[in-house]
Amino acid sequence: MRRFVIIGQRASASPDFSLADLAGSSGRLDVLLRCLRAALLVSHGLRRDTVVYLVLLGGASAPRSLRIDGASARFLRPDERSLALLVQKSLAAPVAGAGFSLVRPGVAVANEGLAAVLADLGPCSPYLLEEHAPDLREAALSLADPVFFLGDHQGLDPASGARLAALGASAIGVGPVSVHADDAITLVVNELDRREAASG
Ligand SMILES: C[S@@+](CC[C@H](N)C(=O)[O-])C[C@H]1O[C@@H](n2cnc3c(N)ncnc32)[C@H](O)[C@@H]1O
Repeated sequence: MRRFVIIGQRASASPDFSLADLAGSSGRLDVLLRCLRAALLVSHGLRRDTVVYLVLLGGASAPRSLRIDGASARFLRPDERSLALLVQKSLAAPVAGAGFSLVRPGVAVANEGLAAVLADLGPCSPYLLEEHAPDLREAALSLADPVFFLGDHQGLDPASGARLAALGASAIGVGPVSVHADDAITLVVNELDRREAASG
């Protein structure tokens, strides 16, 4: 299984954003939605072996988190507006108690941030996508259960960085240039695809 965690420093944890002005009204949730598409959607389908977590640290309802599981999610479309609508409806669903609650097939919401995600992940091989870190192509990646953490357009907030350091996440890079987070995911996914194909 492949898992991706994208931490949105200002991304709206409430459904009170406008689909007509997503970037301007949602704390740049659009950045996270492009990450979701890059990690989970392929031409004409979903990656059934992939789970994406969006950590939403923006607004009065924060922190909250979303989990989208490619194995059971239905009707995910690649355009940003459709994904934004899915997130908006999911955030509007009532959720009680600790941890993730399923609000629609394959989509779960937690009323917590990174703490809920780390608890949900359990034992795993954590990697932190970071500019100028050792190159992914040279890294001895675990193909069994890798988890990749990324920041948003502003990078990673210090508190999340400290938690990931305490978790022992290995920093990896995808090349010498700082790219958009969704492009970094595409490069990781492509490398995993190639390695899996090569190892049969
Ligand atoms: C647009 S970048 C953040 C840029 C922000 N100005 C900063 O200084 O952190 C968004 C995220 O993509 C990932 N990323 C971007 N370029 C990368 C690279 N060359 N190697 C690894 N990760 C990268 C990192 O996780 C980063 O937090």
